[in-house]
Amino acid sequence: MDLDEIFGLRGRVAVVVGASSGLGVECARALASAGADVALLARRKERLEALAEELGASGVRARAVMADATDDASLQLAIDEVEAELGGIWALVNSAGISRLSRALKHTREKWDQVLAVNLTAAFVMSQQVARKMVARGEPGRIVHVSSVLGRGASPVHPQVGYAAAKGGVDNLTRQLAIEWAPHGITVNAIAPGYFPTELTVDPSVGEMDADFVESIRRLTPMGRAGEPAEIQSALLYLTAPRSTYVTGSVIPVDGGWTAW
Ligand SMILES: NC(=O)c1ccc[n+]([C@@H]2O[C@H](COP(=O)([O-])OP(=O)(O)OC[C@H]3O[C@@H](n4cnc5c(N)ncnc54)[C@H](OP(=O)(O)O)[C@@H]3O)[C@@H](O)[C@H]2O)c1
Repeated sequence: MDLDEIFGLRGRVAVVVGASSGLGVECARALASAGADVALLARRKERLEALAEELGASGVRARAVMADATDDASLQLAIDEVEAELGGIWALVNSAGISRLSRALKHTREKWDQVLAVNLTAAFVMSQQVARKMVARGEPGRIVHVSSVLGRGASPVHPQVGYAAAKGGVDNLTRQLAIEWAPHGITVNAIAPGYFPTELTVDPSVGEMDADFVESIRRLTPMGRAGEPAEIQSALLYLTAPRSTYVTGSVIPVDGGWTAW
């Protein structure tokens, strides 16, 4: 058996929601490097088109598809478009996410709703819509949620009760969907990143993560540093691999050891 039989994705279609920035971009690059045709979903079209061009140059088919993860109809349209253009979806990666910092006593209902809608509800709706297609075709598939270390523990660094609640929900959504869809050969897993410099964590006025934040990461992470966004790629390829047929319901930390103690 060669490596390609285990990890290769040539001829398979993958969808990344949240592919216009950060970890979603690195997930899309990883899938394309394994040979997958990739559909890139998010709201910022130019970003998606630039990435589609980059990936297309490596010989895979890549499509930019605008979609708002909080709008069920928009997601359904996007899935239909992807399947019509590229074919049946093999792997779905839910990487869209937002965070709204504020102490729990002051966290508004509006912020709560926004965070839950993108981080948790959209992951469910997208998974359900894609899984319905897989089941109707009688084909197996892979679903990967990008959760967070805050799915299993609270943040000692930032007050973000909505985000922590949403990611806790994502972890258990992963387990419930894994159980229900295992008979169809659809595996459902999550990656739980620690801290990575992306638009989510970088202070736009400085162009990097806040110095106190970096110091907290250094102190609380056994590896003594934040992650590099591309460090998410190997876990993703493991979870989307054709041979990962017996891995489901797991939440894999990619966190430099943040959750090891
Ligand atoms: N960075 C970290 O340290 C870290 C740590 C743990 C977990 N995570 C998780 O990793 C995932 C990716 O985050 P990131 O760090 O890569 O953040 P990011 O750079 O801010 O990217 C977030 C992505 O989500 C998309 N998105 C947000 N709202 C959306 C909406 N309504 N519809 C469609 N797409 C939407 C954004 O695209 P548009 O704005 O173009 O729509 C963007 O592509 C998130 O789930 C996040 O919670 C990140």
